[in-house]
Amino acid sequence: MIAAVLPAAGVGERFKSKPGDSPKQFTGLSGRALYLWSLGTLAAHNQVNLIVVVVPKLSLDAVQSEIKQNLPPADAQKVILTAGGSTRQHSVHNGLERLAELSEHPDYVLVHDAARPLLTGRMIDLVIKSVTTNGACTLAVAVTDTIKKVKDGIVGETLNRSELVQIQTPQAAKFEWLLEAHRKAAKENFGTTDDSTILEHSGHKVHIVPGSPYNLKITNPEDLSVCQSLASALKQRS
Ligand code: CTP
Ligand code: MG
Repeated sequence: MIAAVLPAAGVGERFKSKPGDSPKQFTGLSGRALYLWSLGTLAAHNQVNLIVVVVPKLSLDAVQSEIKQNLPPADAQKVILTAGGSTRQHSVHNGLERLAELSEHPDYVLVHDAARPLLTGRMIDLVIKSVTTNGACTLAVAVTDTIKKVKDGIVGETLNRSELVQIQTPQAAKFEWLLEAHRKAAKENFGTTDDSTILEHSGHKVHIVPGSPYNLKITNPEDLSVCQSLASALKQRS
């Protein structure tokens, strides 16, 4: 069985224009809540059997009915919800513990940020192919800009671009590897921003799967219109 965890429980601090704004994953992108884009793609994938959407506790009921209204019934049936935590890591861990409660544990689990709406079925295909072969993987793209270290506003060392990649999601691993790695990280108070680092911390090798520069993460308000244009351009092309 292949499961997915979709962390969608952040507050979207960098995206908000004022304190009362709702978190970015609930903002509309072409008339559809942001998290529904990648959730719809994951749920429609024939190799993904189950998805845990991790949302703020107070949004559990609203999200449950929105999913029912927006996804085809067979896809909506694959979705379960759980409440998030104070960090992304904590939210993903909650999603994994929800899967660990099931009578049958998944063999593999994908983790994808709800803030990356332009996930495609092809990306999921590549991630599943790599995780079932290698045990752990992440989508990543080559760095095209020159990257330098900076101290006190002055540029210093230039990093070797051929050794650098930008990490994206989905990331995936054998379920037991990722669950144990999260439990170990929590016990040791090891905090980080993605699951490949958690897996590395437990000694696993995380393989690279070629991602796409279009697999944007919505972080700042401007990203929404870029994503909107990309979504229409990609739709026209397909
Ligand atoms: N996330 C989560 N639980 C948290 C924090 C983040 O589930 N406590 C999720 C977000 O909803 C998002 C993904 O993790 O889908 C990536 O996080 P990020 O882009 O940093 O979103 P936010 O943390 O919400 O934004 P910010 O850092 O600007 O506050
Ligand atoms: Mg964040």
